[in-house]
Amino acid sequence: MRKSFLAMTMVATLSLGLFTGCGSAPQEGASTEAQEQTAAVVVEKAEEPVATAAKPANEKLVVGFAQIGQESGWRDGETNDIQWYAAQHTDTIDLVFADAQQKQENQIKAIRNFIDMGVDVIAFPPVVETGWEAVLTECKEAGIPVILVDRGVDQSCADLYATQISSDMVWEGQQAADIVGDLLGGKGKVVELEGTVGASAANGRKEGFDGELKSKYPDIEIVASQTGDFTRALGKEVMESFLKSYDDIDAVFAHNDDMALGAIEAIKEAGKKPGVDIKVVGCDGVKGAFEAMVAGEMNGTVECNPCLAGQIFDAAAKLKAGESVDKWIVSNDGVFTQKDAEAELPNRTY
Ligand code: AHR
Repeated sequence: MRKSFLAMTMVATLSLGLFTGCGSAPQEGASTEAQEQTAAVVVEKAEEPVATAAKPANEKLVVGFAQIGQESGWRDGETNDIQWYAAQHTDTIDLVFADAQQKQENQIKAIRNFIDMGVDVIAFPPVVETGWEAVLTECKEAGIPVILVDRGVDQSCADLYATQISSDMVWEGQQAADIVGDLLGGKGKVVELEGTVGASAANGRKEGFDGELKSKYPDIEIVASQTGDFTRALGKEVMESFLKSYDDIDAVFAHNDDMALGAIEAIKEAGKKPGVDIKVVGCDGVKGAFEAMVAGEMNGTVECNPCLAGQIFDAAAKLKAGESVDKWIVSNDGVFTQKDAEAELPNRTY
């Protein structure tokens, strides 16, 4: 049964403030008011449908985006970019945005709402790799193409989505291992702060990092590896426990910069110098990591571009028009260490 947009509860609007997307200047005349109108946040679906109206004719591209939540600065950067881009293209794009508050069940609910609304395309970053077969099959049966954004799903669902727009997480882990390998001169003890258990971003980075260390730096040992769920708070907490268990840690690799920044706090509180006594390497390339590198407290970060809105809406328009798109649209990411940090800091937009 199709439900109208009114069947959603807690529809709120986001004020996007001064954010201007990833590296783009705001279009002249684009008002915050227009942005607020576009950035609808659908939090939850109502118990009962309130209307069964036929889908109104909409020439615009209607995209439902089910965001994971707000676990990291990087994630906020991605959300801002998507909402900002839609706000700049209100003549051609309608964005329906849902915040799943870190829960797969909420992402699935939001996707089912999008199907009921009859959106043109559904896009979402799968919080974990598994458990999508049923809802992706429903999308397919409804004839709604799906774009996976920044994370992947397991291979059994390969035929159930149209494209994945993301970084190469295995490559990112390998780059991080090379930074650590160089910093330690090929010898030492490392701890690893993993991302969300079951997330492709965590699995890929772990595979790349651990594999590269094993094959290229056999004298570097990973003494402990535990999830910090991609959050600064948990990154700090887990690093605190690593520091209590091991007094000879040479480096920490965090699967994202937020956890690296949490680890830096823990190292300082333990009376050691982050970036010097214990080398710190992350992933993402958020502004905070560059500031920490300039301050000498962090040693490197591997970029993971969250500025995907242009590619997402381009692919969505093609899919709506029945055109094909590449199965994996891979981001071009950079690798940064302390020597690049000062020059690069002003360019960071997230
Ligand atoms: O999927 C990308 C990862 O998810 C980013 O590295 C992390 O910061 C985010 O929350």
